[in-house]
Amino acid sequence: MCDRNVREGILVGCGNPLLDISAIVPLEFLKKYAMKEDDAILAEERHMPIYQELVDGFQAEFLAGGSVQNSLRIAQWILGQPKVAVFFGCVGQDKYADILAEKARSAGLDVHYQVKKDVPTGTCAVLITGTHRSLCANLAAANNFTIDHLEEPGNKALVDNALYYYISGFFLTVNPPSIMKVAATAHANQRPFLMNLSAPFISQFYMAPLLAVLPYVDIIFGNEAEAQAFAEAQKWPSEDLREIGKRLVAMDKLNPSRPRIAILTQGCDPVLLIQQDSVQEFPVTKLAVHEIVDTNGAGDAFVGGFLSQFVQGKSLDVCIRCGNYAAGHIIKNPGCTYNGKPEFVE
Ligand code: AP5
Ligand code: NA
Repeated sequence: MCDRNVREGILVGCGNPLLDISAIVPLEFLKKYAMKEDDAILAEERHMPIYQELVDGFQAEFLAGGSVQNSLRIAQWILGQPKVAVFFGCVGQDKYADILAEKARSAGLDVHYQVKKDVPTGTCAVLITGTHRSLCANLAAANNFTIDHLEEPGNKALVDNALYYYISGFFLTVNPPSIMKVAATAHANQRPFLMNLSAPFISQFYMAPLLAVLPYVDIIFGNEAEAQAFAEAQKWPSEDLREIGKRLVAMDKLNPSRPRIAILTQGCDPVLLIQQDSVQEFPVTKLAVHEIVDTNGAGDAFVGGFLSQFVQGKSLDVCIRCGNYAAGHIIKNPGCTYNGKPEFVE
């Protein structure tokens, strides 16, 4: 559990607060919307009926989602001390926003939403087909986040007061200036700035803002598909994850005294920790099929577990083991939710 050296507001994150609408659907449902089994996309006009259809035609579950908010909720759960993490994102003024805020606050997360009255809170369809899940995010209000929210005196104080920063690649589709601002604050004060590749489509379509922020990034997270999408967009010759990781950490960095670290997860295969020329593996305890509820949120939970230790100044080894612990726990529960008290032992 928590050490004395963590304090309120030590960690700040920005992202898209989304309410997940999750249901088991037949493959035809994906086909109808031209979606792939293990994908993550942003909703286009043609996807808009999905959400109502899930609610009307399937046993849809509503779960707190949004990648960064998931990670911070999990970090809070493990820390067991409220308000260590602060979250910024944009919601509407509606029932979904109330649900999200309630779930986040009951997890101990200090949420400071920007509220847009005329736009609904964002949702993410989680379409489960067997062991696969396909995500379709309708960012809605989340897409309206503006940098002036971070410039409000109270919020600015929270950003300045933090010692660690975490933002998803997903947020690059929303407001790169806010990301650059937080990254610059981290850099000016020599504080770690952590990011996530988030989804293949980020590298495919948002490479320019990703490359703009990368020099600030001290630790970059991703899974196999995301790392490979990044490599492909960079036209790197190799698909080998270790090779990709080494190239990723070698890319330009503003603070060379703290070399970049890449942490790549690969499902039940070992997590790779890549630092300069070294690649270390951290094994994952495989779960039996009957123990798996859904892997939705596994990557986010991994980051949450990692952050819970990182903000206590623990070694990368402990951080990664806690990441694996948290992911393993979340897989045994629906969506990115937990059950009972954390049982991580260092
Ligand atoms: P989703 O992508 O489902 O969650 P995730 O956290 O990324 O989980 P994945 O299952 O994709 O895991 P991964 O592939 O990243 O990691 P890996 O399998 O390597 O997304 C969930 C959330 O995203 C939703 O709540 C949604 O709201 C949000 N979202 C979607 N679009 C968004 C947008 N545009 N903006 C903001 N938010 C958005 O596994 C990681 C770790 O898990 C492993 O290292 C291991 O420890 C563990 N693990 C995985 N598989 C196993 C296994 N079989 N046995 C044991 N451990 C395992
Ligand atoms: Na889960």
